[in-house]
Amino acid sequence: MPEEKPTLDHEHLPTKLGTEFVTKFYRLLKGTTVYDRKNAIIDRLTQECLQVINGIIQSEGHLFLKIVRDNFFFNNIRILVKADKYPIFKAFWQEMKRRWIGEVEFSSEVKGDQLKDLVYLLSGLEENNESNYLYVKKQLEFRNIESIHVGKLEFFKDEEIYIDSEDRKKYSKEVYFKSLGLVKEVVESINQQKALNIRKAKRLMQNAVNAIMQDESTLLGLANIKNYDEYTFNHSVNVAIYAIALGQRIGIPKKELSHLGMTGLFHDMGKTRIPKEILNKTGKLSPEEWSMMRSHPIAGAELIMRMKEWGELSTRMMSGAFEHHLRYDLTGYPKLTRKKKTTLFGRIVTIADFYDALVRPRVYNRYPYVSEKILGIMLERSGKDFDPSLVKVFINMIGVFPLGTLVLLNTNEMGIVTQIHEDTELIDRPKVCLLQYSDGEYRKGQAVDLREMEEGGQHFKRTIVKTLDPNEYNINVAEFLI
Ligand SMILES: [Fe+2]
Ligand SMILES: [Fe+2]
Repeated sequence: MPEEKPTLDHEHLPTKLGTEFVTKFYRLLKGTTVYDRKNAIIDRLTQECLQVINGIIQSEGHLFLKIVRDNFFFNNIRILVKADKYPIFKAFWQEMKRRWIGEVEFSSEVKGDQLKDLVYLLSGLEENNESNYLYVKKQLEFRNIESIHVGKLEFFKDEEIYIDSEDRKKYSKEVYFKSLGLVKEVVESINQQKALNIRKAKRLMQNAVNAIMQDESTLLGLANIKNYDEYTFNHSVNVAIYAIALGQRIGIPKKELSHLGMTGLFHDMGKTRIPKEILNKTGKLSPEEWSMMRSHPIAGAELIMRMKEWGELSTRMMSGAFEHHLRYDLTGYPKLTRKKKTTLFGRIVTIADFYDALVRPRVYNRYPYVSEKILGIMLERSGKDFDPSLVKVFINMIGVFPLGTLVLLNTNEMGIVTQIHEDTELIDRPKVCLLQYSDGEYRKGQAVDLREMEEGGQHFKRTIVKTLDPNEYNINVAEFLI
């Protein structure tokens, strides 16, 4: 299936045109939430979008964009979303999903006012109303706009869709803690030589994929909070979550994402073969102990190999276990006698594993790195230890201020990062929950968006000055985030 490749050539015309349209259309749609119809910026955005639309009409005859699940089709051909465009597509997808609109069609050239009518109609729609598309249709008819059509977003029946954001959070939390339970079960069953419950693991990872697609922040947030008791179990689940989220961003198809989750979940399975005393040793390891530790990728691959019933999945999981310490340039371990390029799944899990291992909680690491520093290290070793194109996407995903970061603002307020914007230019302006100090305790305060400008639009209302260590202030980040 060549079309599933995350890299693509520039000659794929539907992708090029579709991407141009989505980019301009999304910017305009976003603009309507901030500016009114007569604003000069809206005029400019409308003109830019209009040029693209009418250009496409002239060359292709018509423009039809359809969203099916999380795939975009331009004139019925799937758009191969490039990694650097992924944030825009995802943000657009979320906007459309919220409004339950899945099709936009232009059958002939349109005028600026008609386009403005459409985008203001769309942006004014109420959330989660299945019949929104009917309302837009009627309104367009009413205004005699015949060249624009919209259609309903189709979901598939088997999909668990949570509309309410609280429900989504609850679902994400459930998936996270169920996965934790599962990893414990797996470790026990290996120790007791019992058969594993593969079905359950698969199902859970499918749920994790669903949860990440609907509400990436909660699961990433859970993975980012490092104050749990049992690091080992958390580590496996976190690696699965980071891997799925990263895979999703580079356009790995949904079915394969759950495989990627499994690969992440079981990457350290070989560690069940290492005595606990060595695993949990805080002092320096002897050379023998080191070589024991370094045997876990091979031991893991062997353990997985024995589970024949896992089918095609087991090959991929084996590569994750075998390759995750190998490094991009193959200078890591195990030492290879024959150099063979690493797999995409292996390279993804390597990044997820490295990041999670370094932001481990205090108890396990005297000097936990802040993520800024880890991301810096990853950039530095990009091309040597890590796949450079994946590193870029990963850094974008985690953000300069990851979810759950405690920050000090220029207003002297303290806050916790609760949501990162998809737009890379706003990566340092996340949504933040302000902290209120009363009765010797920090409590949840107002939720603010650091994109907000002061009146007059000259300056931002609030800006992050620096990050703070939540332990020093006795703040349990989890309480604020989930
Ligand atoms: Fe490992
Ligand atoms: Fe690991």
